[in-house]
Formats: sequence, C-alpha cells, structure tokens
Amino acid sequence: MKRLYIETVGCQMNVLDSEMVVASLRKQGFELESELSAADVILFNTCSVREQAENKTYSALGRLRSFKKQHPEKIIGVMGCMAQKDQKLVFERAPYVDLVVGPGQLSRIPDLLGDIAAGKGPQMAVGLGRKDGTVDEIKRSHETFDPLRDPAMRPTPFQAYLRIQIGCDKFCTYCIVPMTRGPEQGRDPEQILAEARILADQGCKEITLIGQTVNSYKHKSGGKTTRLSDLLYSLHEIDGIERLKFVTNYPKDMTDDLLEAVATLRKCSPYLHVPAQSGSNEVLARMKRGYTVEDYRETMARIRARLPHAAVTSDFIVGFCGETDEDFQKTYDLVAECRFKNSFIFKYSERPGTKGAELYPDDVPFEVKNRRNNELLELQNRISEQENQPLLGQRVEVLVEGVSERTKRHGEDQGDLVQLTGRTACDRIVVFEGNTRLTGQIIPVAIYDLSPHTLFGAVVTEHVGPSLQPIMA
Ligand code: 5AD
Ligand code: SF4
Repeated sequence: MKRLYIETVGCQMNVLDSEMVVASLRKQGFELESELSAADVILFNTCSVREQAENKTYSALGRLRSFKKQHPEKIIGVMGCMAQKDQKLVFERAPYVDLVVGPGQLSRIPDLLGDIAAGKGPQMAVGLGRKDGTVDEIKRSHETFDPLRDPAMRPTPFQAYLRIQIGCDKFCTYCIVPMTRGPEQGRDPEQILAEARILADQGCKEITLIGQTVNSYKHKSGGKTTRLSDLLYSLHEIDGIERLKFVTNYPKDMTDDLLEAVATLRKCSPYLHVPAQSGSNEVLARMKRGYTVEDYRETMARIRARLPHAAVTSDFIVGFCGETDEDFQKTYDLVAECRFKNSFIFKYSERPGTKGAELYPDDVPFEVKNRRNNELLELQNRISEQENQPLLGQRVEVLVEGVSERTKRHGEDQGDLVQLTGRTACDRIVVFEGNTRLTGQIIPVAIYDLSPHTLFGAVVTEHVGPSLQPIMA
C-alpha cells in the first residue's frame, strides 16, 4: 500500500480536481494519508489567482528541501493552476520537485508517478498556451478530468461538486484563469446527467454545478444547444437529488430563462453568486468585464423581480490599477445599494501573463488597498447581519454537513450532543447542537441568534405541521 498526502488551495474546481486525483490514485492502490511525513507521494494542488496563494505554495515547498534530501525516494508533485502557469519555473525554484502537472493533464498523474518511480526522472505535463496552436489543439490539450465516481472515494457522500464546464474565454484583464485552465468548454449534457444519476444512487442530496462562468454554459450537438437552464430542468428530474446550486455566474449571462428555471424548480436553491468586481465604469472597462454598472443594476433588478427572496452574493477587487477614491466610492455605493447576502473582497494582485499586468501599472499603494478592503468588508458585514435578521425565530431547512470546527478542535464525546454545522439552500451557515447521526440529512432548525455569517439554531424535533413548514432561506 502506497500512501498519498495532498494539500489543496484555491477554488471549488481545485477541490473537485483533488477529489478526482485521489480517486484515481486509490484505484492504483494508494491510501490517503493525513501526515505529510508519512506519505510516499506528496501533492500540492495550487492556485495562481493571487500572488499570496503562490507564495504560500513555494514556502511549503521550501520547507520540504531538507526532507527530500533525507528521503529521496519520496515523490513531490505540484499540480493545478500554478503548475500550468509556472511550468519549468517550479523545478527552478524547487529543484527537488519530481512532478509538475497542469489542471488539464490530471488524468496522466498515475502514469507519470509510475515513470518517476521507474527512475525516468522529473516529469512535466502541461496544456498549450493560449497562442500556442489552433483553437482545437489548445482545447484538446486542456482536458476535463471527471472519471466516473466510485462511492467509496467520495469525501462527503451527500454533497458533490459536478463540473459542467472547464476553462474561461472572458479574459478579464486581472485574471490568470484563461491562461491556466485554457479555453471554455462545456461538457456533454449526457455525461453530466449520467454523473448526476450516479451521485444520486450513491446517496448524494446536493449537487453544486461548477464552471468558471457557469451560466455561460453551452453545449451544441446534433443541431441542438443545451443551456444551463436546460440542464437544471433535466437534473431536477433525478430522484434523490434534493438541492441544486451553481457557481460562478457571469453577470452578463444572467439570462431570463435561467432566472425562470431557478424560480420554477423546487430543488434549485435561490442562491446566486454574481460577482460585480467594481462599481465604477472606468474600472470595469479597464478590467474588460464587458458590462457597465448600469448593466449590472439592470441584472440585479431582474433577479429581484423574478426571485425576490434569493440570496445574491458578489466578489469585489479593490485597488485595481488606477482606482481612485471616487471609483472606490462607487463600489461602496453599489454594495450599499445591492445589499448582497455576502461579498468576497480581494485586494488586487498583479498576475504576470495577464493583460492587466501588461497594460496598467499596479499603482494603488498597499495601505490604500488595505483601507478600501477593510471599509468595504465592514459595510458588507453590517449588511449581511441585517439581511440575516428576518430569520430570527424562523425555521430553516439545513443540510447537516457534520461537526463544527469548534467540536473538531475540542473533540467530541461519543453519544453526547455535539455542535453540528450545516447550510441552508441559500448557503447560510447554521450551527446547532445535535447527534452526529444527523449528518447528511436535511432537517428543520429554528434560529435563535445570528452573526453576519452564521445562524445559531436548535433542531426542531416535534412534528412540523403544514403551517410550520420551514421557509426557504
Ligand atoms: N487579484 C485579486 N483578486 C482577483 N480575483 C481574480 N483575479 C484576481 C487578482 N488578480 C478575484 C475575483 C474573482 C475571485 C475568484 O478572485 O474577484 O471573482
Ligand atoms: Fe485559483 Fe482560479 Fe485556478 Fe481556481 S481556477 S485554482 S481560483 S487560479
């Protein structure tokens, strides 16, 4: 039995990629190991979206320098976006790394590990750059990696990510993803549905469809085009699946057919992540987002009209090249106006290889980025808490995910009630006491307290009559 240690940073795509790699290596006789030092193969699944994420990976690799000297037989691999972006540079910065694999080459990992073990030396597999071939060649060099799922290999059997699209063609000027994950490609709907049915058979209740711009999903075959809304209608038919979510949306592709599907389909969570990135037209134009703040407002108005109770969340970048105090004020005003359930706020990080890095100097000082970040975060936290207030005293439906971080830290007493955590359909985190047996179930929880990002509740044990049905939250 060979032992595998894997560390994952970055987005849902990376979480899913790691799951797939672990599954494929288990098939080769590997067992997952939680101690790095006890593993035979050590993999880092990396992210390049901000410099800080890369620095952390290189520091982690740096700490392995002497370890690898003492244990030359151990295999160290770097996979994911930073592997695709830095390629040979990874070997230059950490010459003891054995394996570099881009996100589009993950299916080759078992073979490459075999080559390394056979003494063939360090191995690298990456996709073509965006200018290094014809569109078809580039597409073929970035493969989606979704081997059909084995029930024994899923980390949480009742929840799953399901990839419907890889890559990105939007080319926002700050973003490295079109370079690391290649051209946008929608997966075949038949494959997506087959995978969803397998997941349902395995007891999966919640599926989150993922794609970089998930609502731009399109697949053409036999003269027919399948859109995300079409997929949702088909997935809704699958018995056992109780919740459908999808991330991340591109504001311009938030079409009426999609809003209609979310409004109509009971299993579809009224939860929409629609990153605005900035509230200033000048900044949006430099980011090449393809919409104005007026367009974004119009999209929000359509969402609110069709889905009045939907939780809408957003991402913002502060301190993008040339962002003035006035620009930032416009972002602040947009957040105040849109009342997002939550926003993820990031300080701009220049990424070599992007148009932003080529065209515009990263000229907003770090202290200014920091200040804007804190101001926007404070505003969003106030709004998040206010938006949670109406849930006080209400019953919400929670998919129980397991013991809370606090319980994990302090240990759990077998048989006793422990602190559990779960999520509502709208992705609100709920903490409550219960038996670990509840894990994987969808249960009603009465909310008695809240903070900006957490609801505190108690499991409702008595019969829930029709008038006391949990609300969609
Ligand atoms: N710097 C800071 N944040 C970034 N994001 C993407 N690229 C960068 C960058 N260069 C943010 C965007 C995106 C989220 C996933 O990460 O807000 O929506
Ligand atoms: Fe990071 Fe983007 Fe790659 Fe996800 S796709 S790992 S966020 S760079």
